[in-house]
Amino acid sequence: MAGKILSGKKVADSILEHAKKEVQVLKKKGITPKLVVMQVGDDPASTIYVNKKHKTCVEIGIDSEIKKFGTEIKYTDFLVEIGNLNKDKKVHGILVQAPLPEHLSHKMVYETIDVQKDVDGFHPCNHGKNLLGKDGLQPATPKGIMRLLEETGIKIEGKTAVVIGRSNIVGKPIALMLINAGATTTVCNSKTKNLGNITKEADILISAVGKANLVKKNMVKKGAIVIDVGTNKNKKGKLCGDVDFENVKEIAGWITPVPGGVGPMTIASLIENTIKACKVLECAN
Ligand code: GUN
Repeated sequence: MAGKILSGKKVADSILEHAKKEVQVLKKKGITPKLVVMQVGDDPASTIYVNKKHKTCVEIGIDSEIKKFGTEIKYTDFLVEIGNLNKDKKVHGILVQAPLPEHLSHKMVYETIDVQKDVDGFHPCNHGKNLLGKDGLQPATPKGIMRLLEETGIKIEGKTAVVIGRSNIVGKPIALMLINAGATTTVCNSKTKNLGNITKEADILISAVGKANLVKKNMVKKGAIVIDVGTNKNKKGKLCGDVDFENVKEIAGWITPVPGGVGPMTIASLIENTIKACKVLECAN
């Protein structure tokens, strides 16, 4: 029997519907949540993501501003721009779209963002809170994945989880969330030897590597929940994930499609984080 499709689109739509009502309540109190997205350069994929975030904010009633910078912006000038947004009382959420150019990456960009406005959950303090299982702003994609797992109704505690990918944005934070939820968790990466032997043990399998067709049917346990975070192009130029969806769905218990799986959940979680940040900053809970 083919696995059930875990539709991120459906869950995200219900989250956004709820978010819209929350924003209406805040507006009645004279508060409008505001998100500023900072984009450096004009990477086409980043532009698509940034525009999607903006469009969703507008639909929900959140004020949204995209601040674009040329790749020549100096590191110190960029930090000053973040500092100004930190001070701006009208701004509740700040998001710096990754990837950043070489001279800005791996520096203090994400730790310069006010922890309370860090709706991406990338500040070391928010990563730390996630590690400790404390309330904070959680990275959007992993938060969305946990929500999708909840949707299956399957208890995470005691399950075996395997994460492929060790990025700061997805792999590491989702592994910590699964550990905190009581799953026995293994983190693999694109260089892991005998990957299939490890993934075949997984009740919950999450792939976040960015390699089309990495996860094949013979690497998946029967009945497993398979979450595909990859966004790749196949040989025909069509959007696809890391998982060989057509074949893996024959064996999985649940499986997310690409598109329409994790992607919409990332945006829905970002919206939730922006509203949460707004409520904390405005003491409007
Ligand atoms: N680039 C790809 N995904 C993300 C994300 O979730 N947040 C940011 N800031 N950049 C990204």
